[in-house]
Amino acid sequence: MLLAFSTWPEIDARLKSSRTVIIPIGSNEQHGPMGLLGTDWLCPEIIAHAAEKEGDLLIAPTFNIGMAQHHLGFSGTISLRPSTFMAAISDWVNSLARHGFDRIYFLNGHGGNVATIEAAFSEIYSDYSYSAEACPFILKLRNWWDLPGIARLCARIYPTGHGTHATPSEIAVTFAAYPDRVKSHLMEPQIAPSGPIRDALDYRARFPDGRIGSDSSLATVEDGRAIIAASVTGLIEDIAKFDAD
Ligand code: NI
Repeated sequence: MLLAFSTWPEIDARLKSSRTVIIPIGSNEQHGPMGLLGTDWLCPEIIAHAAEKEGDLLIAPTFNIGMAQHHLGFSGTISLRPSTFMAAISDWVNSLARHGFDRIYFLNGHGGNVATIEAAFSEIYSDYSYSAEACPFILKLRNWWDLPGIARLCARIYPTGHGTHATPSEIAVTFAAYPDRVKSHLMEPQIAPSGPIRDALDYRARFPDGRIGSDSSLATVEDGRAIIAASVTGLIEDIAKFDAD
C-alpha cells in the first residue's frame, strides 16, 4: 500500500491491522558523470515500491532531499543542513506518530544521511526521556545496502571498483528500474580516488568527477535487477523482524 495513493479512510482502516510505516529516504546529489542526481532517493524508493507489490507493507512518500553539503560543488545537488534535516525528520515522525503509527522505519539510500538521522532519532527520544514519558513509537534506520545478503551479493558482482560513492550497485538499481534513462561515460581514471569527506570545495578538489573509489561504468541493468530482487527479499524479512520488536 502506498500512502500517497491512499485516502485518509483507507489509512484509518489500515491502522487497525498494522501500525508500521516505511519511509524511503535519500538525497538529491551528484553521482559522478553517469549516475542520476536522484540515485540516493531512487534506490530506496525502487526497492520499497517493489517490496510493496510482494508484501503487506505501507510505504510513505519518499523523503528525497538529505544532508549533502559536501556535494554542493556539483550542479544539481540540493542539500539540507543537518539542523534543517533533523527538524524535518522530527516533523515527519511526529505527524505519523500522531495518527498512531508506532513503528517508523527509514529505508535510507545515502551514507551522508546516517549521522544526522541517528542524531534526529536521539532528539526525538530526548523529548520523552526528559519528561519521563514513555515514547509511543520506535524508530529504525536501515541503509538498503545493509539489508540481509546485499553486501555479499554486491561484493560478488563487483569484486573491484565498487567504492563508496556513485557505486556501480546503486547506479545499476536505477538503470534496472529506468532502463530508458541509462547513461554511459568513459571513466578517467577507471577507479576513482578515495579519501576523507569535508566541505564542498575540498570534495571537488579530491574527487574531480564526483565519484569516490568506484567504477560506475560496471553498472548494468541485469545486475540492478538481481540487486533489487535480493533487496526486496531482505526488506520484507527485516520488516517482519521490526514488526515483532
Ligand atoms: Ni549514492
